[in-house]
Amino acid sequence: MNKITIAIDGFSSTGKSTVAKQLAKHLGYVYVDTGAMYRAVTFYAMENGLIGDDDFNVEALIYQLPHMEIAFKFNETLGFAEVYLNGVNIEKKIRTLEVSSFVSKVAAISQVRHKLVEQQQRMGKDKGIVMDGRDIGTVVFPDAELKLFMTASAEKRAMRRYEELTGRGDNVIYEDVLFNVQERDRIDTTREDSPLVKANDAIEIDNSNMTLDEQFDKILSLTKMTL
Ligand code: C5P
Repeated sequence: MNKITIAIDGFSSTGKSTVAKQLAKHLGYVYVDTGAMYRAVTFYAMENGLIGDDDFNVEALIYQLPHMEIAFKFNETLGFAEVYLNGVNIEKKIRTLEVSSFVSKVAAISQVRHKLVEQQQRMGKDKGIVMDGRDIGTVVFPDAELKLFMTASAEKRAMRRYEELTGRGDNVIYEDVLFNVQERDRIDTTREDSPLVKANDAIEIDNSNMTLDEQFDKILSLTKMTL
């Protein structure tokens, strides 16, 4: 069977990565979480003192981009690929609210996007890939055979994120998570370079009132119609 490219874009915390992982596993495709790549650059900047409470050294971040080697390695036990920065597994460290609160500012820098988009295009050159993010159907793979655009109300998304963070022991409050989700949407949709926008040929899925199973069934049937 012909392998295709599946692009899943949408707002923050719409469950893109959950369904993308499920779909990739079902099809035997590679899954790439591009948000993790932007989070890795943000994590590097935080670790190296380029982002403080009130300052953000954009020049230094751009200068140091060539020193950031981002890679994915499949974890057999978990059943998905984890993200590595310069050889170190940072999968757990990039999901914090702290990283979330800076990542959209980092992702608005054109030089950062340029580096990561090139890498993403290399990863998908042989197709057989499910990639999720904000600009996959518009910029990274404008010719993807199947494009999905995920939405849900900000409150639902924030609650899911809040449950995920508290579920793993992070001490956060719902209002902060909601603010972060709304703020990231605002920055992602209004940035100059590759703003988050639904591609003309993307299929929109509002999963506010869908269970994970319902969502997966719907996306799988759309995929089968495309294959
Ligand atoms: O998908 P996730 O929520 O982990 O993405 C974190 C952030 O990375 C997003 O809020 C967005 O600012 C940025 N991003 C992006 N382009 C992508 C993927 C993520 O700008 N393709």
